[in-house]
Amino acid sequence: MTENFEINEYLESTEKLPLFLVGDSLAVLKTFQANSVDCIITSPPYWGQREYSNEGIGLEEKPEYFISNLLDIIKELYRVLKPTGSFWLNLGDTYGNKSLQGIPWRVAIKMIDDQNWILRNSVIWNKHKGGLHSSADRLRNVHENFFHFVKKAKGYYYDANSIRTKPREATIKNGSVVSATGVTGIRYKRQIELSTSLSDIEKENALFQLNFVLERISKGEISDFRMIIRNQQRTTHSDSMKVSGRAKELVEKGFYFLMYNPNGTLPNDVWDIVPEDTQKREKHFAAFPEDLCRIPILATCPKDGVVLDPFCGTGTSNKVALHFDRKSIGIDLSLEYIELAQNRIGIYELV
Ligand SMILES: C[S@@+](CC[C@H](N)C(=O)[O-])C[C@H]1O[C@@H](n2cnc3c(N)ncnc32)[C@H](O)[C@@H]1O
Repeated sequence: MTENFEINEYLESTEKLPLFLVGDSLAVLKTFQANSVDCIITSPPYWGQREYSNEGIGLEEKPEYFISNLLDIIKELYRVLKPTGSFWLNLGDTYGNKSLQGIPWRVAIKMIDDQNWILRNSVIWNKHKGGLHSSADRLRNVHENFFHFVKKAKGYYYDANSIRTKPREATIKNGSVVSATGVTGIRYKRQIELSTSLSDIEKENALFQLNFVLERISKGEISDFRMIIRNQQRTTHSDSMKVSGRAKELVEKGFYFLMYNPNGTLPNDVWDIVPEDTQKREKHFAAFPEDLCRIPILATCPKDGVVLDPFCGTGTSNKVALHFDRKSIGIDLSLEYIELAQNRIGIYELV
């Protein structure tokens, strides 16, 4: 397949407005140079649930055929993604003969086993509300999988600080430092002094270390901490020194600390995001919410990087990429959807 100069030109330019390409993903991806995009975010059609026009994948007779077609495209995505890149795949499951088909995981396992992808997270997208539920013999389905894949185990781009939730800050009260959640160290000091499990040397060391941690809090190096003292606090780890480094510290030193990152905590892997309101859209019924793209773009696409959505539909990933000042490319079979995407973003001329 010959290279597409339009794509190369776009990638080399400083243009931030998305480039949209109409066509079959597999064919269009073959015209990309290897290792050319930083972050792929996409939601392919789900098997058997196509509600929109056109040909394309999702209409196969059996899930196996759908999985195989999707994997052919994903193999091409592996080639196109930079070694430092990330691939975020949103896929819902489908019932066939009364049984959930397990399609998201069937695809993920094949990606890991046959295509060398590394799965870093399986995010559960909790949509809160599902479609119409007509069965009285099973629960309502309200979640979808959102997988985060990378090509190499270490050194892929990940800006954790851009997605942390900011913690409350430590304060000084009556001359002593108070951590973000109100820990002053006074209780720990008393527990150490009154302990019957710590030797005098261990007590001295524990008090010294506690003061050191409080000093770090007042300097803003950590925002919060907990101290675990032998036979005082309940532990949640194994007592085996072989399995747990913390158990070892408790036996050998008599205490250890849990420190909290001053930049805040990372989001967890269950995301509560209400789906796009499809009522207002006439033509395309499977757009994903903009919020779903926020963490993938901030954490895994560098500022000067490029986002790719090979099933871009109405261009949600492209819109969010532009919002965060990233370049992006969108591919879709449907000219109609690409035009909707361009309208949403404010580009009127087809590139
Ligand atoms: C679930 S929708 C994507 C929705 C998109 N995330 C949005 O926010 O609008 C899947 C899209 O894949 C497109 N599609 C299906 N098969 C395709 C193929 N082989 N190549 C390119 N696009 C395809 C469909 O036209 C549809 O727009």
